[in-house]
Parts: sequence; C-alpha cells; structure tokens
Amino acid sequence: MSIRIRFLILIGVLSLLATIGIAFASYQFSLHNAVEEAKSKGHIVFDYLDSSRSYFKTHMRPKVFEIIPQGEFIPELISSFTLTRGVSDEFHKKNPDYVFKQATIDPLHLDNKADQDDLKIIETFKNDPNKTFDEGTITRKGQSYYFFAKPIKINSPNCLRCHGDPATAPPEQIDMYGSDHGYNWKLGDIASAYIVYVPLQQAIAQAKKSAINLVAIGAGAILVMMLILWIFFSMYVIKPITMLEQRATEISLGKNLSEPIATPSNDEIGSLGRSVDRLRISVEKMLHRFKK
Ligand code: HEC
Repeated sequence: MSIRIRFLILIGVLSLLATIGIAFASYQFSLHNAVEEAKSKGHIVFDYLDSSRSYFKTHMRPKVFEIIPQGEFIPELISSFTLTRGVSDEFHKKNPDYVFKQATIDPLHLDNKADQDDLKIIETFKNDPNKTFDEGTITRKGQSYYFFAKPIKINSPNCLRCHGDPATAPPEQIDMYGSDHGYNWKLGDIASAYIVYVPLQQAIAQAKKSAINLVAIGAGAILVMMLILWIFFSMYVIKPITMLEQRATEISLGKNLSEPIATPSNDEIGSLGRSVDRLRISVEKMLHRFKK
C-alpha cells in the first residue's frame, strides 16, 4: 500500500473518531443542559401554582367565607385543590406538553386520578414518610419528562370532614362527586402528590439532531481535508520522489548523466535530490575517468 494511502487512511480514521467523540460529548452536554432547563422550568411552574394556592388560602378564602352563607358548598370558592386543578387546566391548554397533577389514589374529582406513573411516585412517598419531594427523569406514555413532585399528606382531622366517611360528608359534595370515590382517607395517609411533568422529548430530539449534524459536517470536512492532503502529497512528495527514483534508476544504468537533477524544494526531499545529484556527478566523473 502506498505511503500516501496509508497516511490518508490513518488521518481519516483518527479524524472520524475525533468527530464522533465530539458529537457524543455534544449530545451528552445538550442532554444535561436540557434536563437542567427542564428542572428549573418544573420548579417555576410548581412554585407558581403553589403560590397561587397559598394566596387563595390566606387572602381569598377567608373573604369568601365572610360573604357566602355558612355551610354553602361551592368548590370553586372554597377548595384550593379546585383552584389548582382549574389553573393547571388553563395552563395545559396553552402548554399542552406540560402536565400538572394533583395525582390522587382515590380522588373526588376523577381528573385527579393517579395513573400508573403517578402511582409509582406516590409509592416512593408512602415508603419513605420523611421524603418531602422527589424529582428526576421519567418515561411516560413513551415520552421523556422531567418530574418534580411533593407528597400531600392528610395532616388534619378537618380533611376527613369531606374525605372521610361519605355518610358524614357534605351532602352537596355527594351530589356533585358521588359517594363511591374520594372517601375513607385516613389521618396520616399520603393520599396524593402534586406532580409537574416537564417535557424533555423535544430537547432530546434536538440534541440528537445537532449530534448527527456535527458528524455529517465533520465527515464533509474530513473528505475535503483528505482531498487537499492527497493533492499536497501528490505534488510535494509523490511527484518528486518518483522523479528521483527514475533518475536514480537512470544513474544506475549510466543514462542521462549530464542532465542536472532539479531540486526545487528546500526540505528533506530537496536534500535527497541534492544527494542523488551529487551521486550523478560522481558517477559521471568516474565514468569519464574510466573512459580515458
Ligand atoms: C369542605 C370539604 C373539604 C375539605 C375540608 C377538604 N377537602 Fe379536599 N377536596 C374537596 C373537594 C370538593 C375536592 C374536589 C376538588 C375538585 O373539584 O377538583 C377536593 C380535592 C382534594 C384533593 C384532590 C384529589 C381529589 O379528591 O379530587 C386532595 C389531594 C385533597 N382534596 C386533599 C385535602 C386535604 C389534605 C385536606 C385537609 C387539609 C382537604 N382536602 C380538605 C373537599 C374538601
């Protein structure tokens, strides 16, 4: 195999490996950034909903209780869970990829029903009662998400007024939600969790696309580089060496001894050329003397 081909294969393979390495690093880096971004978005969405709940509970609901007749049951005006469900429904319409849930094992309102993925998260809170939040990446219905979750604990006997025995629950509540789900919760139980799912799919697809583009651009650049190296090798290495090889063969045969060898370049090939030229002169002189 010619030195030119060997050299180009080596350079080509090394450059390709370097490009793939860079593309892989870029993919990992983009993925890491996507997760970090999803994490901060998740926290913002969560904090916003939590803040609206707090404001409702501390500022609005007391005023509502002053206005509405005692015992009046209007979930939109008295339940912070109805408020967050409503706000997150509106948010979801504008950001369909985002999911916020008050995922509940056995809810009053069936929109809050926990699915398989939610249940796994609630389970981790049930198994570790000291855990106050959980977060991480999760695959949900085939899509990647970053989730952030907080447990909802039945921390007051007051909750059981409406979520305990259906026989003692407000009759209007039974009328609205029925009596076969959302009851018999126990004090101290983790019945539910707030969970925000932030989509990662698009960012992952983008990271993959950038990595593939990087490999494609790298491969193109390698081809151009190899073409330039091929031309360079042909002009400055192969051509002069072939010429010197021909002249050395001619010298060995005693041909063309009077024609000087041109050594245009000032590098190693140039010095080889000068040496071959000195060899030509010596052979020419020797033959000249011999002929005398
Ligand atoms: C006055 C009755 C009442 C009280 C007291 C009450 N809730 Fe509720 N709760 C409701 C109603 C009604 C809903 C359904 C809201 C909706 O329409 O989304 C609800 C919904 C929920 C949900 C969402 C899941 C579901 O069942 O739809 C959770 C979680 C929840 N409540 C927890 C609590 C906790 C914890 C307490 C005590 C701190 C509590 N609730 C006190 C009436 C009540």
